[in-house]
Amino acid sequence: MDPTTVRTYAERVVRAESLDGKLAPPPPDLPDERPGPSLRIATPGRPPELGIAPSARVPPLEGMADPAQRARILHGFANHELQAVELFAWALLAFPDAPEAFRRGLLRILVEEQEHVRLYLSRLEAHGTAFGDHPVSGYFWGKIDTLTTPARFVCAMSLTFETANLDHAADHATAARAAGDPETAEVLDRIARDEIRHVAFGWQWLRKLRDPGRSMWDAYRENVSWPLRPALSRGRTFHPGPRLAAGLDEDFVRRIAEAGPDET
Ligand SMILES: [Fe+2]
Ligand SMILES: [Fe+2]
Repeated sequence: MDPTTVRTYAERVVRAESLDGKLAPPPPDLPDERPGPSLRIATPGRPPELGIAPSARVPPLEGMADPAQRARILHGFANHELQAVELFAWALLAFPDAPEAFRRGLLRILVEEQEHVRLYLSRLEAHGTAFGDHPVSGYFWGKIDTLTTPARFVCAMSLTFETANLDHAADHATAARAAGDPETAEVLDRIARDEIRHVAFGWQWLRKLRDPGRSMWDAYRENVSWPLRPALSRGRTFHPGPRLAAGLDEDFVRRIAEAGPDET
């Protein structure tokens, strides 16, 4: 039976034990009037080949030059996107009392994360690899205990993971082009454009949800827990442009750029 509410849809996505179940888009116009009590699911359902493995490793940027290592990098990125799908669904279950517009935004981003998984699946196929051929980590899932409020959710997901991904995607697109793989570069560019909107979502909601009188910088730092910290909100090369395009103010962008590796 098709899910009939945002809640039942979100729960199905988190608990699905098939990739098709994770990637099925929501039926249009799902009602969300009574999202029910908060439900914090500890671990996602997964198909057996995508079971979370603590020791999963992804090659560094330099691996993009070698098609075999590139396939493993793309496999890791597909898993990041799959975790994003699951965690936006998780947040719909965990934060039933959040503003309706916030919840609509979560669902809209979830659908885009499903598209990102599919884009990487197409690149995996082009490299002769299938999703599940390598172990996958549960890095994002490992942080859910600290995601106790919508503000903490957007500080971790939008303003740390997805903001760092603006750098990762740009660097990997450049490396893919240099390696003669423009198709992969185009996928990375497309995803980076979407992620600017996802970062903007987090920024706009932190502005609304923070304690009045707190600066955005203080609000961000107060709403992430170690090991999450400003330095994890950037990649190897710092790209201010997409951050400014997402609406982050210049002071915040500069502070992220200058934060020491262990600064909280
Ligand atoms: Fe994404
Ligand atoms: Fe995203």
